[in-house]
Amino acid sequence: MRARRAMLYVPGDDLHKVQKAAGLGADSICLDIEDGVALNRKSEARASIVEALRTLDFHDSERLVRINPVGSGLDEEDLRAVLPARPDGILIPKVGNAEQLRWASGQVGDFERQQGWPVGGIVLLALIETALGVVNLREIVAADQRLAALIFGAEDLAGDTGAVRTREGWEIFYARSAIVMHAAAYGLQALDMVFMDLKDIDGLRAESLEGARMAYTGKQAIHPNQIGPIQEAYSPSDAEIDHARRVVETAAQHQSLGKGAYALDGKMVDAPVVKAAERVLARARAAGKISVGGELDG
Ligand code: COA
Ligand code: MG
Repeated sequence: MRARRAMLYVPGDDLHKVQKAAGLGADSICLDIEDGVALNRKSEARASIVEALRTLDFHDSERLVRINPVGSGLDEEDLRAVLPARPDGILIPKVGNAEQLRWASGQVGDFERQQGWPVGGIVLLALIETALGVVNLREIVAADQRLAALIFGAEDLAGDTGAVRTREGWEIFYARSAIVMHAAAYGLQALDMVFMDLKDIDGLRAESLEGARMAYTGKQAIHPNQIGPIQEAYSPSDAEIDHARRVVETAAQHQSLGKGAYALDGKMVDAPVVKAAERVLARARAAGKISVGGELDG
């Protein structure tokens, strides 16, 4: 599964920003036709997204498009416009039930078959940002094979329920927890909420680390300056990697001596601790911090 630590949104009708985004090294770039684009600019956005997908070099960044919500009346035209330019994936906003995802998947699948492309190659990512989406998580995660990730939209959710957003975030904490838990249960990635204060990089760093500790695998970004801090927070540190490696190595030695539990630096190590250490190493590999053999890179 590809790492999606930082996913940067770009308004699809803003060619300058789209060109800029292509060279910033974000794990994923989401070319937007939904809320970042004014109602009277939707067709410009479709056209410039197609142009960008056909002509720009996005380097290693994944190329995603956010269409308008299923049922909005714009969804079908969005898909019809952008699919021929073969994005890597489609973000579906304001997902409220499984049927909406199955509809989108059906559209994408029909198009893949028509073109003779591998069926299932274009992934779907579902934005959960309504109360209905949160209470229907169980059916949404099981909706379709094409689904790769859940994305948490905190601002829209607060708008939907009437909650007042605060820095502490208790008003959205249930949804933030439920989303990451449902994603984990179904082997999906989970991308955490947008940090709205463009100037507060320390705040962004703290919120990113918090999300990573909750088991989110990445976070949405809205400005170039947010990419680096997010990627750092979602990559294990050198100290974490060293410790994880020691746990895995010593666990193997103790296993061969017939010991499932032992003490390392005064703390107990047993199966769940080893599993967590293996996850740290997997994340380090996905972030390119260690090679497949396990050596630290750089
Ligand atoms: N992607 C690519 N480039 C971006 C960018 C983005 N999301 N946000 C800003 N930039 C560029 C600017 O164009 C500017 O480039 P320049 O120096 O070559 O002119 C540079 O980065 C610095 O931008 P800055 O002046 O600090 O911000 P701004 O006032 O131009 O833009 C926002 C502020 C919030 C409008 C902008 O960051 C943005 O459009 N973010 C995405 C919004 C969005 O997609 N929302 C929907 C999803 S939540
Ligand atoms: Mg939204």
